[in-house]
Amino acid sequence: MALDAVPLLRNEALTALAAAGDDAALRAWHTAYLGRKDGRLTGILRTLGSLSIEDRKTVGAAATALTLELEAAFEAREQELRRSALARSIETGRVDVTLPARPHLQGGLHPVTQLLRKILDACRSMGFSIVEGPEVELDYYNFEALRIPQDHPARDMWDTFWIDERVAGQTPLLLRTQTSPMQIRFMEEHKPPIRIASPGRAYRFEATDTTHEWMMTQVEILAVDEGLNMGHLKGTLLDLFRRLFGPERRIRLQASYFPFVEPGAEVAMDCYVCNGVGTGCASCHGTGWIEMLGAGMVHPEILENMGIDSRKYTGFAAGMGLERLAMQYYGVPDIRWWYQNDLRLLSQF
Ligand code: DAH
Repeated sequence: MALDAVPLLRNEALTALAAAGDDAALRAWHTAYLGRKDGRLTGILRTLGSLSIEDRKTVGAAATALTLELEAAFEAREQELRRSALARSIETGRVDVTLPARPHLQGGLHPVTQLLRKILDACRSMGFSIVEGPEVELDYYNFEALRIPQDHPARDMWDTFWIDERVAGQTPLLLRTQTSPMQIRFMEEHKPPIRIASPGRAYRFEATDTTHEWMMTQVEILAVDEGLNMGHLKGTLLDLFRRLFGPERRIRLQASYFPFVEPGAEVAMDCYVCNGVGTGCASCHGTGWIEMLGAGMVHPEILENMGIDSRKYTGFAAGMGLERLAMQYYGVPDIRWWYQNDLRLLSQF
């Protein structure tokens, strides 16, 4: 063995150590130079026997010193690598606290739902219970039981979506055109006194435009009791509208026809934007009135069909659509906008 084996090995080992750039390279270096079995230093120590006593001492001492030096250099390099890895990860994963925060998108109730809840709250506070009926309805409930028989011209008012499937032994299925069928369903199961408000969706086979949609939200009101008359209907609606649109509101009833009430009425409320003045008002189109709903006294024939004695009991009913009212309420000019799911519109309310 050459006497300069130790200094030569030192140079080589230190150069290789400086080149080891990651953990795996470091481990490999350690095995190659300091490994107990096959390491280069062990190799030198193993061949000491072939040297003279004098040389053995010199080389042996130098090899031992190099072992210590290399172990120390190894540890230093290991720490250096660890530090620079940490520095790199801090740099790449850096949090810039000056960046503006990402906005939290907050959900909200649809404006029509908000209006619906206001109406239902007012109904509840007047003693009405909230009940819901099916959107897929039998012809019987939607039309026949409400005195709109097959081939009756009044059916033209409610052209609808029919469903191909049928329930055996039942009238055809359709998407209900109104929430009025819930009057029948409820009177089948309950006897007076009755006070219900029934919200839900109704559908019509409509060509859509700025004021027509094929789906709408309605609220149906029904009260049956001893001695109810038009005065109670008017008082209830006036109170409802005053709760919603201000204590100074007035209402107007005009005779109208719905097969399930007698007499029937179209009910309008004085415009809450111009206070009924009309002239130049965009909300009520200059009329001073806003059409709110259809209403009337429950037809005695319907009460009798439901097993309710029409000489003892009378009832009133009303049904309103919410989308048009919501247009006025929120100042939205096109009914179709409600269901286009455009957050630029919906998030304003
Ligand atoms: N269901 C009717 C419609 O959708 C509205 C209506 C009119 C409901 C008169 C009633 C009523 O309860 O008495 O056009």
